[in-house]
Amino acid sequence: ERVVLAYSGGVDTSVCIPYLINEWGVKEIITLAADLGQGEELKPIQEKALKCGAVESLVEDATETFVKDYAFPAICANTLYENRYPLSTALARPLIAKLLVDAAEKYGADAVAHGCTGKGNDQVRFDVGIMALNPKLKVLAPAREWGMSREETIAYGEKFGIESPVKKSSPYSIDRNLLGRSIEAGPLEDPMTEPPEEIYAMTRAIADTPNEPEYIEIGFERGIPVSVNGKTLNPIELISQLNDIVGKHGVGRIDMIENRVVGIKSREIYETPALLVLINAHRDLESLTLTGDVTRYKRGIEQTYSELIYQGLWYSPLKTALDAFIQTTQVNVSGTVKVKLFKGNAMIVGRQSDNSIYAPDLATYGADDEFDHKAAEGFIYIWGLPTKVWAQKTKG
Ligand code: ARG
Ligand code: SIN
Repeated sequence: ERVVLAYSGGVDTSVCIPYLINEWGVKEIITLAADLGQGEELKPIQEKALKCGAVESLVEDATETFVKDYAFPAICANTLYENRYPLSTALARPLIAKLLVDAAEKYGADAVAHGCTGKGNDQVRFDVGIMALNPKLKVLAPAREWGMSREETIAYGEKFGIESPVKKSSPYSIDRNLLGRSIEAGPLEDPMTEPPEEIYAMTRAIADTPNEPEYIEIGFERGIPVSVNGKTLNPIELISQLNDIVGKHGVGRIDMIENRVVGIKSREIYETPALLVLINAHRDLESLTLTGDVTRYKRGIEQTYSELIYQGLWYSPLKTALDAFIQTTQVNVSGTVKVKLFKGNAMIVGRQSDNSIYAPDLATYGADDEFDHKAAEGFIYIWGLPTKVWAQKTKG
């Protein structure tokens, strides 16, 4: 049996290699590490997999695909899970699932494997993503079944020459990619404990942010962010530059108790500077370019879309159907949004578009007002008629 294993270089995924071979009788393990812009050297990880017993160790650079095909559609949908979390980790999972399935098909593997535990969302996203892309592949999740504590896992690995983490390992569980960092566990498990400053890496503490505001202009074309301060940037540059600029002003931190797919509430800290500002700017540009009814209807679609990403349904008929709606709404969402960054705030202070349907001659309170005030009277008569009849009946 040949298996493709999602590999991060950490203790758990490393232990998966000897475990699958010795306990589950897997013959050949091919590991796959995905570069999603997490800013980590993947060469040592590649070598480590071979040392742990993998026959082949693949590294896939998928950062551009991640931004273009996963983050940008989410921005078009203004996705915020439970109105707060921009899904920076959740969006990476369907892409990793796809890389695993592609590799399994290329190398003729019978199964794919991952090191997720049975308590998280990520196992759901991997398993469901894999079965949606290739229902013939088996999914192996040894860490969901082995029942080893962290100490036992480390001890098991040591038997097979996997070094235990050298420095006293951090109490936190951290996931990171170009879109952001997710931090949980350790002292953060107490919902009343303020996150210590040391957990952050992409955003500055307010005390260390510049004392002058900084203005940036973000350009969008058909819903997709394309430029910063008038300069056209490729998707990766755009996200990295915005992460730097926005993070410097302490913007992009989220501290929340969220509802996991498996029914558990968990406390997670996020820092997603670029993504959060892009979603807010995008939503603002829509307010200038979409009709009111489309905007309001889209809010419901956005919530469903956010939930399906969180819940692992990226590859699903519902997602495809909602994409069709979202894409048609984006044809006119082009223009520029002006954002003022200052002391942890990203305030939207201006927006403009060639497709703007904001009509100054209708909106103005000045002399050149074109709005027909008299027409309002007849409108209100008809609009209020049911209420008036009701009031006459009930209030005599
Ligand atoms: N709760 C987030 C999600 O479900 C992040 C999961 C991974 N978090 C972590 N700290 N390892 O998308
Ligand atoms: C995990 O247990 O895999 C991390 C947390 C999560 O998936 O929600």
